[in-house]
Amino acid sequence: MKARETAKNKAERLVIGLSGASGVAYGIRMLEACRELGIESHLVMTKPAEMTIGYETELSPRQVAAKADFSYAVGDIAAPIASGSFKTKGMIVAPCSVRTMSEIATGVTTNLLTRSADVMLKERRPLVLMVRETPLHLGHLRSMTALAEMGAIILPPVPAFYAEPRTLSDLVDQMVGRALDLFGYDWPDVKRWGEELAKGKRKPTSPSARSAPKGEVAVAGSRASEGRRGKK
Ligand SMILES: Cc1cc2nc3c(=O)[nH]c(=O)nc-3n(C[C@H](O)[C@H](O)[C@H](O)COP(=O)(O)O)c2cc1C
Repeated sequence: MKARETAKNKAERLVIGLSGASGVAYGIRMLEACRELGIESHLVMTKPAEMTIGYETELSPRQVAAKADFSYAVGDIAAPIASGSFKTKGMIVAPCSVRTMSEIATGVTTNLLTRSADVMLKERRPLVLMVRETPLHLGHLRSMTALAEMGAIILPPVPAFYAEPRTLSDLVDQMVGRALDLFGYDWPDVKRWGEELAKGKRKPTSPSARSAPKGEVAVAGSRASEGRRGKK
């Protein structure tokens, strides 16, 4: 079936790119979130992304692709998402490798993922890049600056400890939820300051009353080394 026959609302399509940086869990969870929210997902992943799926998850690339409504081969530059005439809400690259980021920054695109990202920029649609590398050299920073100047949103997957994560899933979900915020979607799994977080907890600033054993950092709600489970 063609994508255009199934889209309830053309504006509710999201392009999701997975490249070969660490953190494929972000992209996978994004696909699951799209399904939960009724957003039509269009997936493209690079060959190195398929490798990192193998290293970092129990899933096969095929199982990841099955989580998307539509999945395209990275070499298929005739796919719908290669054209600005194919209406989408925007695109997220999660995770975004330095190689993919650099290619998008130059405009010299060599595969469907980077071509689709270029389409988002030229059509002035949101392009969110979850760039994952550390440390960063000046060339990386310059590419990010160029992309920000072109309208892309650089969203490195940096955890917010005020969100009281207890598991890796908590960290991933919070980041995915914040990425969805950038497209105007409200995913229930994201915790919000002043709502689930910090309600009635705000105190006048003072050094932390919490004391930690020597060599250990006290983390709100749990000890960093323990990772207590249970509460979501
Ligand atoms: C397990 C693994 C983890 C990697 N992590 C990163 C990373 O975090 N950031 C990055 O820029 N490249 C990372 N790389 C290297 C990229 O996969 C490599 O530069 C590749 O050429 C990127 O190609 P792509 O942008 O087409 O996916 C990693 C590679 C492997 C195998």
